Amino acid sequence: MAIKRITRRWLFNSFGVIVVIILVIEVAAGLGISNYYYNSVRQALLSRADSAGVVFARYAEDKTQDFQTQVRDYVTSFPAKDKMEMMVLAGEGEILYTSSGFEPDDKATLDDYRAALVSQDRSGYFVGRMGQERVMAVTMALSLPGSGVSAVRFLVSLTHVDRQIAWVISGLVLLGCVILLLVLFSSSYFINSIVNPVGEVGETARRIAQGDFRARLAKKNDDEIGELCDIINYMAEELGVAETMKNDFISSVSHELRTPLTAIQGWGETILSDEGEDKETLQKGMKVIISETDRLSSMVEELLDFSRMQSGRLKLILSRMDPVAELSEAVIMYTERAKRDGITLVYEEGDIYAPIRGDKNKIRQVFVNVIDNAIKYSDHGGTVTVSAEILSGKLVITVTDTGIGIREDDLDKIKTKFFKANSTRRGSGIGLAVADEIITRHNGTLEVDSRYGEGTAVTITLPIMKKQDELAEIDDAGEGTP
Ligand SMILES: Nc1ncnc2c1ncn2[C@@H]1O[C@H](COP(=O)(O)OP(=O)(O)O)[C@@H](O)[C@H]1O
Ligand SMILES: [Mg+2]
Repeated sequence: MAIKRITRRWLFNSFGVIVVIILVIEVAAGLGISNYYYNSVRQALLSRADSAGVVFARYAEDKTQDFQTQVRDYVTSFPAKDKMEMMVLAGEGEILYTSSGFEPDDKATLDDYRAALVSQDRSGYFVGRMGQERVMAVTMALSLPGSGVSAVRFLVSLTHVDRQIAWVISGLVLLGCVILLLVLFSSSYFINSIVNPVGEVGETARRIAQGDFRARLAKKNDDEIGELCDIINYMAEELGVAETMKNDFISSVSHELRTPLTAIQGWGETILSDEGEDKETLQKGMKVIISETDRLSSMVEELLDFSRMQSGRLKLILSRMDPVAELSEAVIMYTERAKRDGITLVYEEGDIYAPIRGDKNKIRQVFVNVIDNAIKYSDHGGTVTVSAEILSGKLVITVTDTGIGIREDDLDKIKTKFFKANSTRRGSGIGLAVADEIITRHNGTLEVDSRYGEGTAVTITLPIMKKQDELAEIDDAGEGTP
């Protein structure tokens, strides 16, 4: 389709215009050339008529010889008489003498004579058909009073001149055709050099659209089409990466969900077979079941948040809240886990009061996520330090660990969705993406600083509520509950 359309457009726009231009040039050149030829013939005839007029005037002055005889001799011995006919006219156009010896039967062709009699320069001119052939006649009126001669006339056949003009015009037409052919050739080469790659680009784009992210275009020229190829290749690469990430995400999420389910199932079966006889086992089992269920639901919550975030539907329920309280709760949640994994969890809670306007649950989820990462990416014997302080009017929360760290190359990618720098540990790779989004929506910042093999520090900064806003909020709440 593309081939046809571009070619057709070119035919109409460029080629059509060139054809018209060449046609106009050819017609103008043709007219100019035939004018030129006719003019030269006319000039030649005029100059012959002029010189005949001069000679006849001399004859008229020469009284020693008979004027009529001299004129007749001149005409009959006219040297170019095989090329043209010379006539001497009188009165109404009667032919006195003619070099051919025959009188023409077509009197209408004496237009030039009549014109010469009235014209200022005493000459008349006629081009037209006489019998079978086209002729040109030039008449020069003479003023030789009393001589009986009133004009000299030359008549020439245009057959030869017309043929010559036809030759030249044919040459021009041929030249025009050659030019058009050249244009056609070079343009079709050019058009093909666009249309063919465009076709290939389209074909590859279709393959990519159908899911073949390994399809690549060969860049042939360093032009706009080459750039397009580069862009499409880049797009395919990015799509491929996204596809792999998505697949990895699905498999790691499934894995994540299976682990707590296995624990729940295992403990459930144990308790069932035990028939609740051993109180201690029952207690322990129930605890695990509850904590694993918690883990499952927070995972599902995170997935839902992620999906809402992706579709722009993540809503925050804002109210005045104390983030430090949420932080303490998150730390408590992980105390048991840290102990189990042999990690020292240090909580440096300054005696601070820093209310913010935010979503309680979401903020806690962010802390849980960050602490979870710190413990998850630390090895046995490591230390995770959680601290909260107020720095230049902002609440700054830091979670530092002595874990495996993050490579410098990966550092700016870890906040992107599905990205996991370390695929050996469990995780879906969306935690930090969601956390970053939540903190940003609270006008805060989440920064990750890390040294590979040494540890990581995550710093969350949140703007503290101003005193007057806080009072207004309390007032609002007061009015709401009478
Ligand atoms: N404290 C940390 N120490 C080392 N690596 C970390 C830490 N926090 C995050 N990362 C890296 O960043 C990636 C993204 O984190 P996250 O979005 O929470 O995904 P997940 O925890 O599910 O793997 C992790 O896979 C991990 O490679
Ligand atoms: Mg995580």
